[in-house]
Amino acid sequence: MRIALRANWHNYLLLYLSAFVFGTTVNAADAGHGKYLTNASGCVACHTAEEGQPMAGGRPLESPFGTFYTPNITPDNETGIGGWTDDEFVSAFQDGLSPEGEHYYPAFPYPSYTGMSRSDLLDIKAHLNSLKPVNAANREHDLVWYASWRMPLVFWKWLYFDDARFAIDSSQTEQWNRGAYLVRHLGHCGECHTPRSWLGGTESDLELAGAPGFGDAKAAPNLTPHEDGLKDWRRADLELFFEIGMLPNGDFAGGEMSAVVDENTALLTDEDRAAITEYLRQLKPLPKQY
Ligand code: HEC
Ligand code: HEC
Repeated sequence: MRIALRANWHNYLLLYLSAFVFGTTVNAADAGHGKYLTNASGCVACHTAEEGQPMAGGRPLESPFGTFYTPNITPDNETGIGGWTDDEFVSAFQDGLSPEGEHYYPAFPYPSYTGMSRSDLLDIKAHLNSLKPVNAANREHDLVWYASWRMPLVFWKWLYFDDARFAIDSSQTEQWNRGAYLVRHLGHCGECHTPRSWLGGTESDLELAGAPGFGDAKAAPNLTPHEDGLKDWRRADLELFFEIGMLPNGDFAGGEMSAVVDENTALLTDEDRAAITEYLRQLKPLPKQY
């Protein structure tokens, strides 16, 4: 105990000294890294309306429970998230809770984002704070009566929401771990590619085995290395797909995947695209679920 205390005290002294020497705290949020992570998390696709200002919200998202309208996440103090504290911001993603303590609908993919680290989230916040504030009031969701009340979300969370940060799996390579963090958490690929139960929770033992699209949306294919998944795709096929959206047969990704490529995977480093590829190639082969 005494040793632990002394070590902590020592760390604080070091932190204080380096803050003094470099004129900044070692933990200062990094907006540049935040911008990269914001791309890797696909925030802009949902939080920007067609012809709307980036991140000012208002984009309709159709679901079996009605239409959700994304909120304004620009740093406007009145209608955006300009006044939020660091803790409020982190809690939205890690706990699915608003600053008022209300439960968010999982149409905001916090069940995936919950795995993100506090420091990565604060870098994203620093990036959002660097954007132009847009004064645009949030639009109310238009939901079926039984979904319009937030309280029952507590039961949904109890069933499906696993509040846990990503933990390194030391039996796997560093590349696999990076890929797992990007696919499961930031990229929230499973929100579309993993099938859901009738209550809308993703089925974790069918991870990325494909899922039908809602309404007119295209099905999200099976990404596991199974015959009716990506077994025949070579590593280079996947990496090229994530860079330019081209399939091995020369077609281009359509449906919601074209935005995922343009606004997310195309903007990543080659190393990160290789890490996503590695993670997909190590998945358990599963037959397709749509
Ligand atoms: C799949 C669409 C989707 C994606 C991707 C998405 N969001 Fe959202 N987000 C939503 C919806 C829908 C809500 C509203 C949830 C509710 O009302 O319960 C929301 C809510 C929020 C809120 C709470 C705002 C408030 O006023 O309470 C913040 C902050 C937020 N999102 C930030 C982000 C960031 C940052 C990213 C990327 C890391 C992101 N979102 C990605 C759909 C999305
Ligand atoms: C918003 C929903 C959505 C998200 C999020 C999403 N995808 Fe997709 N994805 C799709 C759809 C829909 C298609 C099928 C596109 C088509 O039919 O042209 C697709 C196609 C693909 C394909 C081509 C597979 C094939 O057999 O043609 C790959 C590979 C892929 N996605 C990987 C990913 C990865 C990795 C992520 C996370 C970084 C991801 N997707 C996130 C919806 C999504």
